[in-house]
Amino acid sequence: IAHEDFAPRLLAWQRAHGRHDLPWQRTRDPYRIWLSEVMLQQTQVATVIPYYARFLARCPDVAALAALPDDDVMTLWSGLGYYSRARNLHRCAQQVMTRFGGRFPENAVDLASLPGIGRSTAAAIAAFAFGRHEAILDGNVKRVLARVFGIEGFPGEKRIETAMWTLAESLLPMPPRGVSATPSDDDMSRYTQGLMDLGATLCTRANPDCPRCPFAADCVANLTHRQRELPTRRAP
Ligand code: ADE
Repeated sequence: IAHEDFAPRLLAWQRAHGRHDLPWQRTRDPYRIWLSEVMLQQTQVATVIPYYARFLARCPDVAALAALPDDDVMTLWSGLGYYSRARNLHRCAQQVMTRFGGRFPENAVDLASLPGIGRSTAAAIAAFAFGRHEAILDGNVKRVLARVFGIEGFPGEKRIETAMWTLAESLLPMPPRGVSATPSDDDMSRYTQGLMDLGATLCTRANPDCPRCPFAADCVANLTHRQRELPTRRAP
């Protein structure tokens, strides 16, 4: 598929078939989006939902979370696993207060300077909360790109990952010609959510549903029956 055709097709698919009712959608509050993205880093949507609700009931904003005692944060998190995420979450909230005056920064570089926010999470927050033109690249997106574009090599390897970041950036929605300088905020949210939804609901690791995929007719893995070989596994 031509790079400029990728985003329009993904946007159309997300409108028709993507997820629209998750608790962290339909908000642009960077605190809520950050909290959901950190929880979703290593945990399934269905598990996250009740934790996310409980966290927000107890800490409705970043100031409340920053002021909570350590032990209470760990208790709220307990059951979600990967507890370094909880410690970083608390440190992040405190740094938003002390370094950024209680407001999340609006660009991905500053977001990625905070504890527990890597490059892809920073980009997701910047796109969802602020409509920024930023590419994401988590495990699901690596799988989608490796398959659609037939990228060989283990995506955990630096050289492959760098190539995938460049590809992900080249696929971002373009502004409508002659109108504004950037795609609408709405498009960046929808595009980012569409990539996540495609990887989570159709282009799954073990059982991809290629007949329903908007890229089936162009996908290298589908056309060559190599869904099981792409993305390339780690060399033994
Ligand atoms: N996984 C990571 N971010 C997500 C999001 N915003 N919605 C659903 N699953 C996700």
